[in-house]
Amino acid sequence: MQVELKQGKLENFNSELLAVGVFENAPLNGAAKELDKILSGKIVRHVKDERFEGKEGEALVVDTEEKKIPARLVLVLGLGKQKNFNLETIRRTAAISVKKAEELKIKNIASAIYGAGVEKIPVDLAGQAMTEGALLGHYKFLKFKSEEARKKISAVENFTIVEADRLKFKKELKGLEKGLLYGEAAILARDLVNEPSSYTTPKMLSQLALTMVKQCPSLKVQVFGKAELETMGARAFLAVARGSDEEPFLVHFVYKPTKKNKKLKKICLVGKGLTFDAGGLSLKPANSMTTMKLDMSGAAAVFGVFSALEKLKINAEVHGVVPLCENMPSGKAVKPGDVVKSMSGKTIEILNTDAEGRVVLADALTYAQKLKPDLMIDLATLTGACIVALGEDVAGLMSNNQKLAEKIKVAAQEAGEFFWELPLVPEYKQFMKSNVADLANTHSGARWGDAIFGGLFLQEFVGETPWAHLDIAGPAFAEQDIISYMPKGGTGFGVRTILNFLENL
Ligand code: BES
Ligand code: ZN
Ligand code: ZN
Repeated sequence: MQVELKQGKLENFNSELLAVGVFENAPLNGAAKELDKILSGKIVRHVKDERFEGKEGEALVVDTEEKKIPARLVLVLGLGKQKNFNLETIRRTAAISVKKAEELKIKNIASAIYGAGVEKIPVDLAGQAMTEGALLGHYKFLKFKSEEARKKISAVENFTIVEADRLKFKKELKGLEKGLLYGEAAILARDLVNEPSSYTTPKMLSQLALTMVKQCPSLKVQVFGKAELETMGARAFLAVARGSDEEPFLVHFVYKPTKKNKKLKKICLVGKGLTFDAGGLSLKPANSMTTMKLDMSGAAAVFGVFSALEKLKINAEVHGVVPLCENMPSGKAVKPGDVVKSMSGKTIEILNTDAEGRVVLADALTYAQKLKPDLMIDLATLTGACIVALGEDVAGLMSNNQKLAEKIKVAAQEAGEFFWELPLVPEYKQFMKSNVADLANTHSGARWGDAIFGGLFLQEFVGETPWAHLDIAGPAFAEQDIISYMPKGGTGFGVRTILNFLENL
């Protein structure tokens, strides 16, 4: 689908459908009001007849049969109460307009920017949110559907945002360009998560990293294989990978802006890249395994972010560290009770091979810390417990640095992604004790609070570096259609928050 911005009056566009927004229990405004005038009050009549209230998510189709304007239909979209209106309303409503158009088998939409006259929302951000919502709401993973099935899914081809005001147009265009970059970065992450794990193997992803940087002069990448990981002493990572026939790889992306700036911040992103998590010998039950291709969503988010850094001209040195492997049971697999020495020197007793993410990340964080970054952020589908605590749509945020945590929250709020901070309770550390090693990978004794244990375990490997851990086990993968622009499957969660965080620096 093509998302474009064009200058002009909405009523003059000959798209099949014109979309306008309306606030809850409020008179028509902006483009909706103008269209209503041209259509001799038909929109207002329909709004009354059909008891359309303008609640967020509501949609009403009005026929323009009098041939007063080129378009055949007007789509009136509820924006909810004006006082609650924000960028997230815009994203969700744009996605709903695309879905409605799909139902109506319409290929071209022209849309006004929603919320005309709402002063608190800058027009560039509004343009960005419209673009993100439309792109992400339109997204479908159709690679494995037959030609016939694909044809039946009628898809919108053009989404044209229309702006009459010249000054606003310029700003909105900037927003649109950013929205395209943010949206496409999230879509790359979605595609990587939605691909079956037999396709997105550690090898395939490391080759993708190599091809990604070829097109970008400010990106570099190093890929380390098994032999190099052994030399590095990444034995914790290798222990997890051992049960699989797929070779593990560690990808290290580096982005340096072309414009030289002395005081650049150095940031390191780390993404859990379990291309499949069967649980290892502590095998998962069949039903818990069906979605475990998602266990590389943190890695996918890092790939998504790196695909956009250059075009966004991010003004920081950004590193991406992505450990890639599978967690499988086999005769070679690591066994409960085994002790492994991590790259940091600390020994880990593996009591449950299904708590593999923290073991792999122990080495990835040690590697990252050696780069001496100003701060690091890991993204990981780490614990089922985080989903129990916060549900499917909210990620856990844990940090050893309150300022960093606050900055992530601000970036997330703007991006429309939900995070909730969980405390790294020092008293819980005693439950990570092992009888034989420095640490155990699961808690003996305490039954609850595993999202926090995951965070506390990782904290053992970050030293004094300001660090935040994002447990995205819930929102990385939508099992139900809850948010209009998050269709079932990989969501690309985290990509837009991190990009926004980097831009806000
Ligand atoms: N990858 C899983 C966590 C997960 C669960 C992500 C559901 C997404 C959806 C992780 O490796 C895992 O298996 N964690 C265990 C830890 C436990 C054994 C301490 C869990 O959450 O059950
Ligand atoms: Zn696991
Ligand atoms: Zn896992």
